[in-house]
Amino acid sequence: MWRNGLISIMTIMVAIILIGCSLAKGHQTFEVKESIETSDFKGIDIMTEEGHSADATYKVQMVHTGNETLNDLISSYVGKHKQFFLDEVAQKGLKDEKKEKSSFSLEAKLMHVSDRYISIEYTRKEKLPQKEPISRMDTITYDLTKNKQIQMEDLFYRPNGWEKLAEQTKLSILKDEEALKTSTYEQISQAFQHPERDLKKFSFTPKGMNIYLDNGKKETEYICFLASENLKGIMEENDIPPVYQTAVDSPEVLSGTVQPTPQNLPSAGKLIALTFDDGPHITRTPRVLDVLKKYNAKATFFVLGEQVQQYPGILQRISAEGHEIGSHTWDHSFLPKLGPVEMMRQIYKTSEVIAKTAGKKPTVLRPPYGAFNDQLESLLDVPIVNWSVDTLDWKHSNSQSVLRIVKRDARPGSIILMHDIQQATVEALEEILLYLQSQDYQCVTVSELLGIQDRQEDFVGQVFYEKE
Ligand code: NI
Repeated sequence: MWRNGLISIMTIMVAIILIGCSLAKGHQTFEVKESIETSDFKGIDIMTEEGHSADATYKVQMVHTGNETLNDLISSYVGKHKQFFLDEVAQKGLKDEKKEKSSFSLEAKLMHVSDRYISIEYTRKEKLPQKEPISRMDTITYDLTKNKQIQMEDLFYRPNGWEKLAEQTKLSILKDEEALKTSTYEQISQAFQHPERDLKKFSFTPKGMNIYLDNGKKETEYICFLASENLKGIMEENDIPPVYQTAVDSPEVLSGTVQPTPQNLPSAGKLIALTFDDGPHITRTPRVLDVLKKYNAKATFFVLGEQVQQYPGILQRISAEGHEIGSHTWDHSFLPKLGPVEMMRQIYKTSEVIAKTAGKKPTVLRPPYGAFNDQLESLLDVPIVNWSVDTLDWKHSNSQSVLRIVKRDARPGSIILMHDIQQATVEALEEILLYLQSQDYQCVTVSELLGIQDRQEDFVGQVFYEKE
């Protein structure tokens, strides 16, 4: 074990030492307080220094290990940033400014400790008057066997290593729900145009690796987690960090998977779900909505991203009238022939435009042609909903034939496929609803029919055709 032979500066379990002193810097006088505490790892301590003056406060943390070269590296990193802040504070006559205090903090978190590596994540926050606040993550990863700090380029020297790393990282972001809230697909793609420049900050975690993206901005925008098994194709096998089940509390939230908890809700009466694909259409969708409203029927619209972009007002009406919105991809691509990145683009861009327009994300997805594969299922964060009754409205272009198929095939629990871009469906809809009403059917959304409403995420990875 690397720790053997280290002289721990701590001989007791936890000790806190407080030292009060003053540090004069320019016209600023700082009250300084220092403390030391043991970390969760034997032989590694965290030293905290806090300073307060009339105009500024700072707090910095040093990680003290048994490796002197690493200790020097850490103290020069911390020292450099602390000095920069103190110089800024000293230079500016802050007393004349608004009474806002300047502040600086550099907090350390031990991300991974093994015989081979020590990986530290630093959160650096800086607030100076009249300057935009900075909130960034920095990282230090040290290879104890080679006795040097390691950089990304030390790890990815295989041919195409950067491209593979970029692709893995991008996928990891696109699978993250939070990313949709703050960035567009294009912004995320931008971050990968210069992987050698932008994918520099990383830390090892107990189960893989985190990559930090700030893309030159004032804030670290994403932390992408890549699981150890995903590092295999892109990193030298020897360099992959050992996996730990416990140890440090690491932010690998992206890897969390929810076990589906299928549950049959009691169905109230005869339920059936009408679904409309390929819209919104500029004239036909509003007519479909009028008829649904007249018969107090709810339905599900599987919309195309590019159509939503063209007719946002119609999507808003669909949503306002209580219908469910599902994704039908951006441009009706046949998904199984796409690679994972392009597949994610189809899903992600559509979710994004729906969320932006309707204020909520699609709750279900119907792949064009009902075509899916394992890869699609693994990328989705909503269940797939196909159909059990195909009205063939696009093929026959005949409202009577659409009605006939519904009469012949509809059963309680059926999911009926129609297209709100087809004239035949617009013409048949009123008669279909009259018929269903006469048979005591209640038209509900697919999620209501399937009993998965408000917990679609529990059914990710499932494909539904009807309510069984
Ligand atoms: Ni379609």
